[in-house]
Amino acid sequence: QLDPLPPITPEFVDVLNKVCEQCYTDFAPDELEVGVREHILQDLETFVRRQFTGAQLQLFGSSKNGFGFRQSDLDICMVLEGQETIDDVDCINIIESLARLLKKHPGLKNILPITTAKVPIVKFYHVRTGLEGDISLYNTLALHNTHLLASYAAIDRRVKILCYVMKVFAKMCDIGDASRGSLSSYAYTLMVLFFLQQRNPPVIPVLQEIYDGKKKPEVLVDGWNVYFFDDLKALPSRWPQYRKNTETVGELWLGLLRFYTEDFDFREHVVCIRQHGRLTTFNKQWTSKYIVIEDPFDLNHNLGAGLSRKMTNFIMKAFINGRTVFGTPIKAFPPMYPSQMEYF
Ligand code: GTP
Ligand code: MG
Repeated sequence: QLDPLPPITPEFVDVLNKVCEQCYTDFAPDELEVGVREHILQDLETFVRRQFTGAQLQLFGSSKNGFGFRQSDLDICMVLEGQETIDDVDCINIIESLARLLKKHPGLKNILPITTAKVPIVKFYHVRTGLEGDISLYNTLALHNTHLLASYAAIDRRVKILCYVMKVFAKMCDIGDASRGSLSSYAYTLMVLFFLQQRNPPVIPVLQEIYDGKKKPEVLVDGWNVYFFDDLKALPSRWPQYRKNTETVGELWLGLLRFYTEDFDFREHVVCIRQHGRLTTFNKQWTSKYIVIEDPFDLNHNLGAGLSRKMTNFIMKAFINGRTVFGTPIKAFPPMYPSQMEYF
């Protein structure tokens, strides 16, 4: 049972806007930090090529999708020139020998191969910057979803700000670490994008549903269609709703918390950013799960699959509390994150 929210005054919307904007300016990396990441990547590629001739390294994840924090990890994908894919056995062998090689790199520490995960990786720690990172092989779908998220981020500034706010909120409520049983940043980003697509009028379109002709083009990667409309300059003429939504970030943030606590029925509905029409857990045969978030390309992948009942309740409680905290007018917010700064 949810407490009713008092009416929101224009002054309070101002406060909410400031909090959201502040979150973004406090945590978004500047150009210099973006450059540092590219530099580390170049250095690693040169080093790795000593043993793996033709190795190509590419950044993905939040270093590239527009929602990176200063301390976000470096997600790196490695491919070998002239080789299209890799089988599981080769993948594990290369990960292991890559780990042995990286141990000789003077600038890295804590090299750890993880070969049992769905996506095998080598983890490392970059001493000079204090950044953590991992290298995966042929993680091609992730490169495409990074590009998809980056495209949404580029459509409207509010998208970027809200995704930052959501990530900060998740970290602060301790519900944003998939390795400890909650949801990944990627999952929360999908939740924000879904909300912005479902808003009336919508803030962003469904890029996977915009195409010429009758049939959606097919661009197959690992058996999945990764097509989406990425000619953003042409978007205003292709999407009638472009810029129709004029809400502020503060209104949208409270709107999001209310959407996921008041409107969205987790038992029945799927968070699904690839189509505007409603998708149900029944359609997906995912009825036993409570928070269901469908990957935009790998349609068999439910980002909420690893959640326990207890964790699901914990996450829902965080949203319900968030709704009360951000939905109750006060004169001004106290400084939002005094001691948590080092967290990021
Ligand atoms: P931060 O590192 O927390 O700033 O965000 P991130 O988006 O980089 O998240 P993370 O490092 O956990 O994941 C890196 C990328 O892997 C994501 O951005 C996605 O592109 C991709 N990815 C695809 N599927 C999954 C998944 O099931 N879980 C996670 N975590 N990442 C996925
Ligand atoms: Mg990352």
